[in-house]
Amino acid sequence: MAGVTDRPFRQLCKKLGAGYAVSEMAASNPKLWDSVKTSRRLNHDGEIAPISVQIAGADPAMMAEAAVFNANKGARIIDINMGCPVKKVCNVASGSALLRHEDLIARILDAVVSACAPLGVPVTLKTRTGWDRESRNALRVAKLAENAGIAALTLHGRTRADLYTGEAEYDTIRAVKAELTIPVIANGDIDSPEKAKHVLDYTGADAVMIGRAAQGRPWIFREIDHYLRTGESLAPPSHGEMRELLLEHLDDHYRFYGEHTGVRTARKHIGWYLDGLPGADSFCARMNLIDNTRDQWRAVSDWFDTLSRDAMPHRAPVAEALMAA
Ligand SMILES: Cc1cc2nc3c(=O)[nH]c(=O)nc-3n(C[C@H](O)[C@H](O)[C@H](O)COP(=O)(O)O)c2cc1C
Repeated sequence: MAGVTDRPFRQLCKKLGAGYAVSEMAASNPKLWDSVKTSRRLNHDGEIAPISVQIAGADPAMMAEAAVFNANKGARIIDINMGCPVKKVCNVASGSALLRHEDLIARILDAVVSACAPLGVPVTLKTRTGWDRESRNALRVAKLAENAGIAALTLHGRTRADLYTGEAEYDTIRAVKAELTIPVIANGDIDSPEKAKHVLDYTGADAVMIGRAAQGRPWIFREIDHYLRTGESLAPPSHGEMRELLLEHLDDHYRFYGEHTGVRTARKHIGWYLDGLPGADSFCARMNLIDNTRDQWRAVSDWFDTLSRDAMPHRAPVAEALMAA
């Protein structure tokens, strides 16, 4: 997820049970490769394997070049984005706009797979169920992908026109899975271990991909993993563990982005972690005014200390007296 699944966050998710995590989308246009943003997105130093980079674009030759460039930078899997509905991406007929041009899809897939094959780098595809509900062509696109040598397909159960509204549907994913021999990964609105199990059972998919539900909740991966293996729910993390994980995330985040960008881009993550906890809204309003990483880290740390103190049950006077004795 662009702007979310940066290296520190992917690393944390992988540590907490994610079997696999794809980089933020990287532009296929070479003119952008030297930008700070893109070079950050292409930094995989110390990342837990396998390193997978998503590329977006509409020009087959440029996409092939971008795939090779990323493979040479350490990507062991290349993922092609045909699912992003963002205007910036769609206006140049990339992302989900490609779903209206099946001939171009085939040329892009062929070009990227042919370029990556000599490097031993598999290519995967991420897409939606179609341009709109009247033209759901996921099955045809999936067949094109399989014939082109795509190694796995991730399908978000919405059309481009749906954006992120309504509920993801899993019938199309189920139909696609029934027709393909390559692995199919189901995606969309999976936000609990129970939902993950339901979607796996219903679609027959080989795996599930989690997006927004992992924001501020990277431990969802171990919860899902545990539930799928044992049928039992894992207890949620204590406030103490949440505090540790968030502070560790912040340390890594600051190292990765530096002082100026680090303090600003950390705010949304902190907001996601704290969402729903008592007093989080007023804390976040204050925390968002802090403009240096040291004070931000300290504020988060202190806030959790207060939270734990307030959550302690009030001791009965007898217990108080016994302890004093
Ligand atoms: C902020 C944001 C950024 C996203 N960026 C990307 C992206 O770069 N590439 C991609 O394939 N999907 C991207 N997505 C879509 C997600 O990967 C996923 O398909 C979608 O959110 C549905 O899954 P979910 O309900 O588990 O979040 C993005 C979604 C969000 C909310």
